[in-house]
Amino acid sequence: MTVNEKTLALSSPPGEARVTRQLGTAAADLDEAGKLLAAGGLVAFPTETVYGLGADATNPQAIARLYAAKGRPSFNPLIAHVPDVASALRLGDFPPLARKLAEAFWPGALTLVVPVSEASPVCELARAGLPSLAIRVPDHPVAEAILRAADRPIAAPSANRSGHISPTRPDHVLGDLAGIIDAIVEGGATAIGVESTILGCVDDSVVMLRPGGIPREAIEAVLGFPLAEGRDDAEAPLAPGRLSSHYAPEHALRLEATRIRPGEACLAFGLPLPEGADVALTLNLSEQRDTAEAAANLYHHLRALDRLPAAGIAVVPIPRQGIGEAILDRLARAAAPR
Ligand code: TXA
Ligand code: MG
Repeated sequence: MTVNEKTLALSSPPGEARVTRQLGTAAADLDEAGKLLAAGGLVAFPTETVYGLGADATNPQAIARLYAAKGRPSFNPLIAHVPDVASALRLGDFPPLARKLAEAFWPGALTLVVPVSEASPVCELARAGLPSLAIRVPDHPVAEAILRAADRPIAAPSANRSGHISPTRPDHVLGDLAGIIDAIVEGGATAIGVESTILGCVDDSVVMLRPGGIPREAIEAVLGFPLAEGRDDAEAPLAPGRLSSHYAPEHALRLEATRIRPGEACLAFGLPLPEGADVALTLNLSEQRDTAEAAANLYHHLRALDRLPAAGIAVVPIPRQGIGEAILDRLARAAAPR
């Protein structure tokens, strides 16, 4: 199919069934992915954190289709992705500390929320009407090539149905979105495995809105002072997607478990396994107690345990240092009552 035919196919209404094309990572495929995005299509692609579901951030029709495909409420704003720091700096009015963080961590697993710039072409729907904009420069050669080919900011939430766990492998994306999106670029498992760290920089302060791939310690080392905490308030959440039941497996999660109950599946961290663990119902995030390896395995293991006939999932204690903070944040949300 040529890009022109594809453009016509894309004019079908949101929600209508379509064939999801599976693209590889050859240069021609990445170019095609960029053209599909520029034509208003929905294309999933890998980043170093999780797979994103891309749409043209300057095109309100494409963004409306994106919200519909995810089943995501349109009051939850999206992150604009661009291929380099210079493009990112044009989208927002960066306070000095935000500029310092951008230079230290981009490209990388950091999202900065800054006041939207006058010149920003990102449509209001992608920002959910907010005066601020979340921006990220991903550190992944496939994502970078697609963003360059699209030649415009691309909104990319995690490529899962709203309320599901974020995808770290192509089959996770297809399980949620096959037949709903136009294409996926299949680039293997993502290296970091949890979403980017989100910092709010709308004034002179820097506020932690979501712990993620870049650890708090690394950010504080650049800032030279401790990060302020974002307070979550259900009426007006600072990062609307932080609502507590966001990451929702079918099974109930029991955290800080030191003994596993009969019939419970176990999400382990290190060896030996906790007392009572049934090996057939256990997955280990990292036998060596490496939190980076644990983050990379987290969502895949949670999905796998969630499919087992089990009485629930018991999760052993995990240290809060480094990326451990993001792992514990996601587990706490997955365990939250809903
Ligand atoms: O690692 C990531 O960040 C991935 C990859 C694909 O880049 N993307 C991702 O997007 O996790 P999403 O939409 O699943 O999560 C973005 C979060 C949401 O919780 C949203 O509420 C918050 O960012 N957000 C976006 N714009 C915001 C803004 N202006 N102010 C506060 N929070 C914002
Ligand atoms: Mg998400």
